[in-house]
Amino acid sequence: MRERPLGMFDSGFGGLTVARAVLDLLPHEELVYIGDTGRYPYGPRRLAEVRVFAHQITATLVERFGVKLVIVACNTASAAALEELQRDSPVPVLGVIEPGVRALVSATRNRRVGVIGTVGTIRSGAYQRAVHEADSEVALTSLACPGFVEFVERGETDSDQVHVLAERLLAPARTAAVDTLLLGCTHYPYLARTISDVLGREVVLVSSADETAFEVMHLLDELDLARPAYAPPPRPRFISSGDVVWFRELGSRLLGPELATAESIAWDVER
Ligand code: DGL
Repeated sequence: MRERPLGMFDSGFGGLTVARAVLDLLPHEELVYIGDTGRYPYGPRRLAEVRVFAHQITATLVERFGVKLVIVACNTASAAALEELQRDSPVPVLGVIEPGVRALVSATRNRRVGVIGTVGTIRSGAYQRAVHEADSEVALTSLACPGFVEFVERGETDSDQVHVLAERLLAPARTAAVDTLLLGCTHYPYLARTISDVLGREVVLVSSADETAFEVMHLLDELDLARPAYAPPPRPRFISSGDVVWFRELGSRLLGPELATAESIAWDVER
């Protein structure tokens, strides 16, 4: 079991922010990453539909790739399905919402915080609940940012157009004088420069990637599932349900040289 890989998925490139943190913190672990680019974006879809995708991908990671743990590196899928996946899966399943919220409430000084995410994530109320549970005294501004994910998936992370969109979508966070903003979509760290230009350098941007990687490390230790030192050097695998050439090209730009090749996956039932 300990020699098995970690499984991770997202609707596309966003989860690579979490993959980067895991590769850096746990370089001896093997990783199988599925980017569901054939069906992205998840954000505008009904949560029930995202839930079906999340179950299908988790089952694929467990049954076909034999992973020992699944990381849902997607806030929308975490909001839609995390509890069910944890209940139904034969291996432990981790999401990104709670780790991000922990980092958010510990970073704020003025206790006015913001979270931005996809329409599905914000509408689900998952962040509102998690922040309230972590600290019921903080004032939370939650904002959906439709369009951000599409810019990232096109590889357009600091164009004038994305800047104009960010000005409009983030205006309420400015009005609310938040001092800390949680990037509640794993795609958004790729827009951090634009977001920071719009909100000003004094607003701290928090992503869930590092905190999630630490949680993976602790869980592996706790369950005695860490990969043994004698195991052969790991080779991460990156798999896409969409255009694999583009996945490799943009993915290697976003993640780094580990994404030198990408494999293809097709689902039995296309949507
Ligand atoms: N990266 C995902 C998230 O964290 C989903 C983006 C999308 O497909 O809309 O929510």
